[in-house]
Amino acid sequence: MENNIPASEISSYSEFSDPRLVALYDNLNALGNDSEFMCQIAKRFSATSIIDLGCGTGMLTCELTKRGYQVIGMEPSSAMLDVAIHKTHGDKVKWIKGSSEQLKNLQVDLIFMTSHVAQFFLNDEEWRAMLKSAHKALKANGHLVFDSRNPITKPWERWTRETSTKKVDTPNGKVEMWYQLSEVRGNRVLYEIHYLFIDSGEELISNNELIYRSREEITQSLSDANFSLENIYGDWDNRPIRTDSLEMVFVARRN
Ligand SMILES: C[S@@+](CC[C@H](N)C(=O)[O-])C[C@H]1O[C@@H](n2cnc3c(N)ncnc32)[C@H](O)[C@@H]1O
Repeated sequence: MENNIPASEISSYSEFSDPRLVALYDNLNALGNDSEFMCQIAKRFSATSIIDLGCGTGMLTCELTKRGYQVIGMEPSSAMLDVAIHKTHGDKVKWIKGSSEQLKNLQVDLIFMTSHVAQFFLNDEEWRAMLKSAHKALKANGHLVFDSRNPITKPWERWTRETSTKKVDTPNGKVEMWYQLSEVRGNRVLYEIHYLFIDSGEELISNNELIYRSREEITQSLSDANFSLENIYGDWDNRPIRTDSLEMVFVARRN
């Protein structure tokens, strides 16, 4: 694994940096229809090489590798990468610690960002730098595909213990997890993720922040970075986006 940059500030969210919480990640976020959507995209575009940017614990990365693609998993958090590397098929992935600054000198058919990685690029300069680097790292007609939650639906209004609680069995016993909204500052949403370990009663909290860019803002930024927007889906079943869609799934082709 290449490891030549300092740990990213962003990956300091304890959800992604505290090994006790990272160990729960796969139990709380199992492979879902978003991953199958990405695998179908890879097939549709006859891709051979893929970068999974913000690959986390490498669930999709390893699934794509299992399906025969050459995959690079790129991730700023060492704790997330530590889990990814040890997964089945992880030995065939090229793992790179870092974010879009690590895209230089790479050339691939597809770049994926899944599970709202796009919303962790908190400032516009960083977002635009990522798009520029992604454009350079894509082969002619290569695609960038990513999801972002639709701000029109204000999902954070449902982030209370009552409405967002999930209970899961984990290797560390039963855990109750919920989201708690802290504050909305313009298009930034600050929130806590609570993890209550039922057996011990210990509670850990991850303080997180996401940016909610609008469909128009993202569309404009893609155009400015010389991408053609081929599609925006509203869900993982290929349905077109509507005003009230929860997800915005962008498929952009490099010009
Ligand atoms: C919600 S997780 C998604 C992980 C994985 N893509 C998945 O689908 O399970 C978000 C991931 O984005 C990573 N991340 C945060 N900021 C990032 C950035 N600027 N560049 C790349 N990855 C970032 C986090 O460390 C975390 O692993």
